[in-house]
This record gives sequence, C-alpha cells and structure tokens, in this order.
Amino acid sequence: MEFDTKTPPYRTGDKSSFAYVSARDRWPVIITQAIDDVYRSVTESDDSAKQEEGKKIIAELARLKYELQHDRQLTPIRDDGKADVSVYNHELEQLGTPNWFDIPWLFCECYLYRRINTSFSLSTHWKTYDVFYRQKINTFRSSRPAVLELAARYKDLITQMGHDRRKTEAGRDEAQRILFFEMCEICLWGNATDLSLLTSLTYEDIQKLQGSEARKASEKNILVNDLGDAYEVLKKSQREGKKERRVDIVLDNAGFELYVDLILAGYLLSSGLATLVVLHPKSIPWFVSDVVPGDFAAFLGALADPKRFYETPSDDEKLQDKTPPPLSEKDSADLGFLFQEWTRMHAEGQLILRPNAFWTYPGGYWRLPSVEKNLYEDLKNSELVIFKGDLNYRKLTGDAAWDPSTPFTEAIGPLGPGSGVNVLALRTCKADVVVGLTPGQDEEIREKEEGGGDGGARKWAWNGKWAVVSFSQGR
Ligand code: F6P
Ligand code: MG
Repeated sequence: MEFDTKTPPYRTGDKSSFAYVSARDRWPVIITQAIDDVYRSVTESDDSAKQEEGKKIIAELARLKYELQHDRQLTPIRDDGKADVSVYNHELEQLGTPNWFDIPWLFCECYLYRRINTSFSLSTHWKTYDVFYRQKINTFRSSRPAVLELAARYKDLITQMGHDRRKTEAGRDEAQRILFFEMCEICLWGNATDLSLLTSLTYEDIQKLQGSEARKASEKNILVNDLGDAYEVLKKSQREGKKERRVDIVLDNAGFELYVDLILAGYLLSSGLATLVVLHPKSIPWFVSDVVPGDFAAFLGALADPKRFYETPSDDEKLQDKTPPPLSEKDSADLGFLFQEWTRMHAEGQLILRPNAFWTYPGGYWRLPSVEKNLYEDLKNSELVIFKGDLNYRKLTGDAAWDPSTPFTEAIGPLGPGSGVNVLALRTCKADVVVGLTPGQDEEIREKEEGGGDGGARKWAWNGKWAVVSFSQGR
C-alpha cells in the first residue's frame, strides 16, 4: 500500500459507486454460478472421492457467499503454498481485517477470486480445475457470427497485404496505419463482452456489441483515442530497422476477446510493426472470464477442428433437442487459415505466453516497479505494452477516485513518463474510475440517458458502452 496513489480508492461501501452494486448484486450471482458448475461436475464424475471433495468445495463456496452477504469480516487466505498468500494476508492485516462492505473495491474483488481459488488449490482432485471454464468456452461458441465475420476479414486482409500493389511507400504506410486503427478498435470492443458483466447483459446484447456495424457506430463512444501516438512508436522502430521489435499484450478475457487479441497480434507480426508478441495471461481462474494458459490451449484446440467445435451440440442444446447449423466450407477454411497462422507464429517463437503471478496480486500497478522488479525490467524491453480491459485500467490508475480530467500519464504514477515502459490501455468502461477526459466531459455524459444524472453516480461508465484508449510514453 505504501507505493499506491494517495488519491482515495473506490470502496465497496460507496453506495453511489459500481463497487457497491458489484458487491451486493453481482458477486453473489458469480459465486452461485461457480457452485452450479462444481455441482454439475460432481454429478458427471464417477469417482466417489472426487465427488466427496467436490461437495466440500460447494459447501465452502456457499460459506463464502454467506460471509459476503452478511457483511462478515474477511478471513485470511489459507496457505496453499503460493507466494502471494502472504501478500494478500499482509494487506488484509494492514487494512484492519475489514468487512466486505467497508473495504477498497480493488483489493476486495481480487480477494474474492483468490479465495475461491483456494477451495480448489487445497484439494486433491480439483487442484487445477477451472470453475469458469465452461462459461468461457460456451460464450466463445455463442459468438460464432462475429468470429466468422472476422476470420473472413482477417484472411482477406493478410492475403492482400502480401500482394499490396500500392506503388508509394506513403500509400503503403497509410494503409498500414488505417489497419492498425481498425485492428486496435476491434480489439478494444472485444473487451465489451466479458462474462462477469453477463449477470446484467444478455447474450443478444453481447452479440450486438461484436459485429462490424456495431463497431462503426461505437467510434463516437471512444472518449480518448491515443492510437495515433502508439502507432508512431511502432512505426518509428520499424523505420529504424531495429531487429527485435516486441509488443506485449497484458491479456484480459478468454473467448472472443482472446480471439481479437490474437487477430491484433497476428496483424502486428504480419505487417512488420512487431517481430515478437508476448502475451501475459493470468495464473489462476480470475474475474470469471480472464485468460489462463489452459484457455489458450483449448482455444487453439477449437480452431484446429472448427466443425467439431461448432457442430457438436452443447449440453444445453442437447437438452433442448437443438442441432447447431453446420459450418460452411468457406467458414471452416477461414478458421483453418487463422489456426495455421497462429500455430506457425507460436511454433516459430514470435507469439509467446508469459504468465506471472503478479497479475493476480491484489494491488494496483503503481506497485509494479517496487514489488515485481523482474517483470518491470522485462516490460521495459517492449516497444509497447498493451493493457487490455477494465480491470487492467483500474489497476493502472489504482482504482482511485481521480478527477476525470486528470491526465492519464499522471494517474498511472510510476508507470508514466520516465518509467521506461510505453503503456497503451484499451479499455471499455465498466467501473467508476476514468481519467484523461476534457473538463466538463464527464458532466455532459452524465446528463445523457442512463448517465447517472446528478445523483452522484457515474453510471455511464459501468456498462461497457463507452471506451478510453490512453497512451503514455515512458521511454
Ligand atoms: O464491471 C464489473 C467488473 O467485474 C469490474 O469489477 C472489473 O473491473 C470488470 O468487470 C472486469 O472487466 P474486464 O474483463 O474488462 O477487466
Ligand atoms: Mg476480465
């Protein structure tokens, strides 16, 4: 906490903040869904020891939900041998072992997922079980229309890039710049579809957020757009002919968002804007939909045989006696193209995964240079570190109640100018914190429908309809 901003953080007890709504309405639903998932796996198992242990896990999750809903004190994270236990428990102690509704939101929400994780990590039969996996893969499957649309677009584009007949370098550069913007915007709006928000959005809402029409219509909702600066950084090192030009993506969600992140990564490598892309997943199941290494493998597995993935009825479809429509030969070939591209890049070492436990620590990234020096030094080797999504943005800014016109470079503190790290945040807004707006802009949006009015709440920033793309040049 000593390295954090002094601007006060959002707290679960702030009734006008999304922190309170999350803790009161969303977390109990998320825990209930986890219980349902384990229950389902228990009934599917024929190993009695595993079943017994699964019932114990269900009881622990139910206990957690009870403690949350009855505003009990947070209990220490049980020791499952991982290094972050002391980090969590030390901070809990420093906070005075508070209750669920009287605590900084960021710490509390991280604690929730770390606590869920201990019920599995301390077991024998469920140690590596991902309680959110079923939800993640099902949602990816249900984003089929947008996945196919993008696969076709990506294949055309990469093929065309290989035969670009534009004569002048300026013409080629302009095309590259436009595509960079488009890829980043696809990648940005892919973040509007995370599963933890599904407790308040329907699948149909989410599908609407994914298509290209929706993206065009949403451009006016990008309140800050620093993509031009980020592009210049990459272009400059390409022009200088630097041998290794690395881009890092601190991943957020699995499924559709991971898919669009890989589209961006593939574009950066194919266009020569990068020679290496390092992806940073989480190490434990996190905030329902975040990517863990197993999701990456499952995702490539799905693309390796897309017909099987899309045409085999899901459990729910079986219950409703529904058969998914077959995949056309073209769709299948487009997805096959993506699979070949990504597995080749992965095999050639141009696209790599680099997990680090720091990403699931409780605090914000103001702490990074002091508490995780190796990771910090490593990120300095990157031309651009792209932080995806809302939680990463909250962590960058310390999830603090900044004046919304505070410059982004100031709100990210030690990762700002002079840090040696070039930071680009691609974030659709799903929480109260927002910075980098022009004076009066927040008030203006509050006046719009569902903006929050003058009731004190920044409701417009809760539902993923608005976005900020903020850049800080650190080197
Ligand atoms: O909106 C609720 C929430 O769980 C926030 O608490 C969190 O920051 C966010 O969703 C997760 O979103 P993302 O997947 O974009 O980080
Ligand atoms: Mg997420």
